Amino acid sequence: MRVKLVAGNWKMQGSLGGNPALLKALACGAATLESVAMAVLVPAPYLFQTQTLLSGSPCAWGGQDVSEEENGPFTGEVSVAMLQEAGCRYVITGHSERRARHLESDQRVAAKASAAIAGGLTPIVCVGETLDERERGETLQVVFRQLDAVIQGVGVHRLANAVLAYEPIWAIGSGKSATPEQAQEVHAALRSRVSSSDWVVGAGIQILYGGSVKPSNALELMRLPDVDGALVGGASLVANDFMDIGRAAATA
Ligand code: 13P
Repeated sequence: MRVKLVAGNWKMQGSLGGNPALLKALACGAATLESVAMAVLVPAPYLFQTQTLLSGSPCAWGGQDVSEEENGPFTGEVSVAMLQEAGCRYVITGHSERRARHLESDQRVAAKASAAIAGGLTPIVCVGETLDERERGETLQVVFRQLDAVIQGVGVHRLANAVLAYEPIWAIGSGKSATPEQAQEVHAALRSRVSSSDWVVGAGIQILYGGSVKPSNALELMRLPDVDGALVGGASLVANDFMDIGRAAATA
């Protein structure tokens, strides 16, 4: 039985003054949910504030990106060791916004995930297709290409220490999530792709769905057999909505 994970990706949002109210609400809310893991992925400047406010609570935290390099002249990048110092458990790798805006290749995403695992962090590795790719019938081809690079770069056994997230790009921030049928089809395909390399890893790996998850659609998505939680953007900035999604995962 895979435990569900509901993770909030704040993206480039938040403020030093506004974060405490949200973080304290999550710390209290997460304590009421026994069967679901909760986490927030915050901008790097807020990691230490998050650590201070969530330490001792069941809500974990993490970064939104990490360098594959250990240290050195890499302006603007954040290392695994820095995330460790901030008490992070998770880090997102390969979010579509970074793949698109920062031209991150599949191999680079794999190297980042590998570095994170080597440092004891759990990477949340994102995959997903554009609307054009879906309409051309290339969805599985695209997500398999992205996944295969990670299986190859990380090694399938070490993938047991990672989380996957299927985030169709057309569903992100659009208000229009994938249908349950679309999500289940891709999640099941991703799982069987991992299983074909290692059955145990495939059966155990958490695969989150992301893309316009909100309280009104969370329950039907969380009930799908191969959906093990959610990677939530916009709704994770509203404490009540994020906790409602957590409760949907707990009851699913
Ligand atoms: P939204 O929930 O705002 O669609 O964002 C999803 C996402 O990109 C999470 O990483």
